[in-house]
Amino acid sequence: MGVGYSTHDLAGFVPTASECRGQVVENRCVATDTWLMRLSCPELARQVTPGQFFMVRDPRVSDPMLGRPFALLDVWEDSDGKIAGVDFGYVVVGKMTTRMTTWRAGDPCSLWGPLGNGFPVPDVERLCLVAGGIGVTPFLAVTNEALGNRIYRSSVGTGSNAVKSVSLCYGTRSKDYLACVDLFEQAGAEVRISTDDGSFGRHGFVTDSLKDLISGETPPQAIYCCGPEPMMHAVGIIAAESQIPCWLSLETPMACGFGICFSCVTRVRMDDGTTDYRRTCVEGPVFPAEKLCFS
Ligand SMILES: Cc1cc2nc3c(=O)[nH]c(=O)nc-3n(C[C@H](O)[C@H](O)[C@H](O)COP(=O)(O)OP(=O)(O)OC[C@H]3O[C@@H](n4cnc5c(N)ncnc54)[C@H](O)[C@@H]3O)c2cc1C
Ligand code: FES
Repeated sequence: MGVGYSTHDLAGFVPTASECRGQVVENRCVATDTWLMRLSCPELARQVTPGQFFMVRDPRVSDPMLGRPFALLDVWEDSDGKIAGVDFGYVVVGKMTTRMTTWRAGDPCSLWGPLGNGFPVPDVERLCLVAGGIGVTPFLAVTNEALGNRIYRSSVGTGSNAVKSVSLCYGTRSKDYLACVDLFEQAGAEVRISTDDGSFGRHGFVTDSLKDLISGETPPQAIYCCGPEPMMHAVGIIAAESQIPCWLSLETPMACGFGICFSCVTRVRMDDGTTDYRRTCVEGPVFPAEKLCFS
C-alpha cells in the first residue's frame, strides 16, 4: 500500500450515487446523545463501501431542506441472508439530528448515495484504527472488510486478505459516550479505550493509546483515523514521525454532497509543493494525512 492516492485515485473517481427511498427499521439511543439508526434500503446497501457516506433527508418536511451526511456504520442482512439496508450512528448536535431522534420504525427517509471515496482496502498485516467520539462509526465496516468478515463492492477483485490484526484506539470524553464497543469486539478488533476524564479505560487522549501501540512489539503498518480535526492533525503528525502510512476521514460540513456547491473544500498539498483545494464530498472524505493542510 503506497502513501499517495492509490485505490481511490482522484482522477479515476467516478460518482455512482443515486437517490433512493428508505424506511426506518430501528432507531435507538446507545450512549449519551448517541443513536444508532437502521434503515431498509437494499439498493444503497449493495453499493456502499467502508468509509463512504450518504446524505439523509426527511421527505415529509422541507426544513431542513438539505440532507445531512452520515458515514456507513455497516450494512445488514434480512432473515434470508440478503443485503437489506444500512446502519449508521449519529450524535445529536442540531436541527436534523434532534428531529431524527423522533423517527420511528416505518417512517420514510430519503437517501442520496453512496458518496465519497471511502478507505483504501488495507493490504498490510497490522491495521490500526484511531477514532474520536462518533468518528468510531466508519470503522466497523472497515474492520469487517479487513478481517474478511464481509465482502463489499470495494473488496471484490482486490484479492486482499493480508490483514491479520485490527487494533481500534477509541477515545471519548467519558464512559457515557462510548458506543458500539461490543460490535467491534464481535468483529474481531482489539479495542483500546481511553477517556479524557479517566472514567473508563486509559486516562488520557486517544493519541496516548496510539503511541503505546506504536512503541509496542507489533506496531501497526497503516493507520486510519476519524474524529475531531485537532485529534486527526495530531494522529497525522505521530504517523509521519513513525513513518506509518496514514489516512484521515474528514467530517467537513457540506451542502450538496455530490460536488457542485464547493461548500466542503479542504486545502491539500500538491506534489509540486503548492497547495490547492479539494472537495471533501467527492475527492474525500478520506485523504492521505500528508496531503492535508491543517493550518
Ligand atoms: C462525510 C461526513 C460523514 C459524517 N458522518 C457522521 C456520522 O456518521 N455520525 C454523526 O453523528 N455525524 C456525522 N457527520 C457530521 C454530521 O453530518 C453533522 O453532525 C450533521 O450534519 C448535523 O446536522 P444537524 O442538522 O443536526 O446540525 P446543524 O443544525 O446543521 O448544526 C448544529 C451545529 O453543529 C455544527 N456542525 C454541523 N455539521 C458539522 C460538522 N460536520 N462538523 C462540525 N460541526 C458541525 C454546526 O455548525 C452547528 O453549530 C458527518 C459529516 C461528514 C461530512
Ligand atoms: S458539498 Fe457540495 S461540493 Fe461538496
